Amino acid sequence: MKIYAHRGCSGTCPENTLAAFRAAAELPITGVEIDVHLTKDNEIVVIHDEKVNRTTNGRGYIKEMTLKEVKELDCGSWYAEEWSDEKIPTLDEVFDIFENTTHRLNIELKSDVFPYDGLADKVIDLATKRGFINRILISSFNHEDIQSVVQGKKVESAILTFEVLVDVYDYARVIGTKRIHVSLPSAFRRMTTDALRKGAIVYTYTVNDISYAEELQKIGVHGIFTDYPEKMLAYLS
Ligand code: G3P
Ligand code: MG
Repeated sequence: MKIYAHRGCSGTCPENTLAAFRAAAELPITGVEIDVHLTKDNEIVVIHDEKVNRTTNGRGYIKEMTLKEVKELDCGSWYAEEWSDEKIPTLDEVFDIFENTTHRLNIELKSDVFPYDGLADKVIDLATKRGFINRILISSFNHEDIQSVVQGKKVESAILTFEVLVDVYDYARVIGTKRIHVSLPSAFRRMTTDALRKGAIVYTYTVNDISYAEELQKIGVHGIFTDYPEKMLAYLS
């Protein structure tokens, strides 16, 4: 089963920081998961929430800040004082970390609350320019964006779901993908076993408990997103 470090090694470092990605780059795991938004001046930045409030010393929406304003924020102290030098990374800076590794990068387009016109194209253009196009997997809760990416046929893509759905494999096929990233509660529902039986590639988020990971491996789930990749590596074959 493939292991992806969720927001980097976010169980031991502040999430979505260069520190969290550097820690993941040291591990023999499949890859990392990265959340991206667009700033007011159209730069791709790596952060989970639409607002900076939870994970920085600032306030407000990413989409209303320039990259220069975003870079003034401290995104490590909320987690622990030792990380106070961490700044919100750009996607370009994250690519630097993985330049000489074999890790795959699951880039989650956080375009489900604000649609961020052009985000998917910008990510694909940058990944192409940086030589990462065959190492990225784009996912989103915004399935319109995934459909557009799939129609461009440039890159592997997955739909993200949180709810328990019916016929999710058929739905994914309409969008044009076989990849479905499901939440942990729905991973053990019929939705997931049906999709696996039909040929879906299923990854589950966020799996921090060994016993859940082992159960998922048994039912044939292909990958997990975890905040503790090192711990999972020690237990999973
Ligand atoms: O991509 C898997 C997972 O990250 C989706 O949920 O809220 O952690 O971005 P969230
Ligand atoms: Mg995510």
